[in-house]
Amino acid sequence: MRLRALRSFVFILTLSSLFFDVSVSISFPPALGQQIARQFPLWFRFIKSSKLFSWFWNKLKSFLITFKDLKLGDTFQGLSNVKQYLDLLGYLNSTSHSNFTDNFTLDLQSAIITFQKNFNLNVTGKLDRNTTKVISEPRCGVPDIVNGTTTMNSGVSNTTAFNPWWKEGKRELTYAFDPENNVSDGVRFLFRDAFERWSNVTALKFTETALLNGSDVKIAFVVFDGRGGAVGVADTDYSEHVGSVYLDSEEEWVVRGENEDGDVDLESVVMHMVGHVLGLGHSSVEEAVMYPIVLEEKIDFALDDLRRIHQIYGVNSK
Ligand SMILES: *[C@@H]1O[C@H](CO)[C@@H](O)[C@H](O)[C@H]1NC(C)=O
Ligand SMILES: *[C@@H]1O[C@H](CO)[C@@H](O)[C@H](O)[C@H]1NC(C)=O
Ligand SMILES: *[C@@H]1O[C@H](CO)[C@@H](O)[C@H](O)[C@H]1NC(C)=O
Ligand SMILES: *[C@@H]1O[C@H](CO)[C@@H](O)[C@H](O)[C@H]1NC(C)=O
Ligand SMILES: *[C@@H]1O[C@H](CO)[C@@H](O)[C@H](O)[C@H]1NC(C)=O
Ligand SMILES: *[C@@H]1O[C@H](CO)[C@@H](O)[C@H](O)[C@H]1NC(C)=O
Ligand SMILES: *[C@@H]1O[C@H](CO)[C@@H](O)[C@H](O)[C@H]1NC(C)=O
Ligand SMILES: *[C@@H]1O[C@H](CO)[C@@H](O)[C@H](O)[C@H]1NC(C)=O
Ligand SMILES: *[C@@H]1O[C@H](CO)[C@@H](O)[C@H](O)[C@H]1NC(C)=O
Ligand SMILES: *[C@@H]1O[C@H](CO)[C@@H](O)[C@H](O)[C@H]1NC(C)=O
Ligand SMILES: [Zn+2]
Repeated sequence: MRLRALRSFVFILTLSSLFFDVSVSISFPPALGQQIARQFPLWFRFIKSSKLFSWFWNKLKSFLITFKDLKLGDTFQGLSNVKQYLDLLGYLNSTSHSNFTDNFTLDLQSAIITFQKNFNLNVTGKLDRNTTKVISEPRCGVPDIVNGTTTMNSGVSNTTAFNPWWKEGKRELTYAFDPENNVSDGVRFLFRDAFERWSNVTALKFTETALLNGSDVKIAFVVFDGRGGAVGVADTDYSEHVGSVYLDSEEEWVVRGENEDGDVDLESVVMHMVGHVLGLGHSSVEEAVMYPIVLEEKIDFALDDLRRIHQIYGVNSK
């Protein structure tokens, strides 16, 4: 895992040896790998072999560079990667989830229209510059549309009721880090604050625990797809009563510092992932913590986040 410690916060370095720069890759501990496989069968197909995923992402990126405006009926080499991308995010109704053609088909058009609505783009149904710019951004790996349901702009049903995955009546939840990650105190403080902000707007309380086994929310930095692509995923497992947060150990994570191009603000992504763990889907409001693209610091809730979380938990009477 790599964390960038920037000049601007050298002053907090004195608190402890907050930051470290371990450039080793952390691969999936087997148990977590299985968990990801269950919860994200589609993603796992790629990330179980991170080489394959990087390969896909690099192909997508080079396609996006060579690309020109494309529309229904066009054929263009590499377009299949855009289909793959949209499929991973729930926009395509594919059954095989692979072997896409380079043809601009009707289902691709309708997926692009939905995508454009969700990201407040002009709805052209074409693969235009502004649309590919959004596609090329690093983002949350959680699909925007899950089983035909979205909380974004596109008007697909947004009515799924949230069912808490933890045991009924439980209000105090624990979270733990994968010990293999050896996270620094600085990172621990950052997670504590992120959980506390959600705690402040719900009636839930979170405490860190040392044991991964038995904790309610499990957190791990794992190898995904190199820099860019998916920065992380989060999900819940109803049968085992656990929430999980996986972050891409190869992103250039920024811990309370200034973002440079390509960096990702860790605390903001953690806030976003905890939002998923608490049952929130993605938002089309760009200022929202739950907007799928989180790169720069965004740790304050937008009204949209508050409205959603209060719909689930009621207004916090802490
Ligand atoms: C996806 O495909 C299934 C099976 O072919 C169909 O029942 C469903 O309506 C389709 N959903 C969308 C959004 O096209
Ligand atoms: C995709 O194509 C490859 C090579 O043509 C083939 O081996 C594989 O079975 C196909 N996969 C699916 C899911 O159709
Ligand atoms: C894709 O487009 C090419 C060129 O226009 C065409 O020859 C081919 O039949 C198309 N494939 C499919 C599956 O529609
Ligand atoms: C949509 O198109 C209009 C007219 O071309 C333009 O003024 C506007 O900036 C576009 N909006 C976005 C979000 O691209
Ligand atoms: C692309 O975005 C720019 C800047 O927001 C806007 O001026 C332009 O109209 C947009 N183009 C399309 C086709 O939406
Ligand atoms: C989506 O549908 C599949 C198959 O019906 C089901 O196993 C899965 O739990 C559903 N996921 C969600 C988040 O509802
Ligand atoms: C769900 O969609 C309806 C209209 O389809 C809208 O009135 C409502 O505000 C949406 N709810 C959320 C939580 O987005
Ligand atoms: C964990 O990190 C600490 C502080 O950076 C270091 O001293 C220790 O050796 C590391 N342990 C492992 C198992 O990597
Ligand atoms: C949570 O709320 C308390 C009391 O209002 C406040 O002191 C604390 O700073 C808040 N925590 C965060 C992380 O914002
Ligand atoms: C986790 O804990 C449960 C009971 O608390 C135990 O049965 C299980 O073997 C433990 N798993 C691991 C991997 O330690
Ligand atoms: Zn997300």
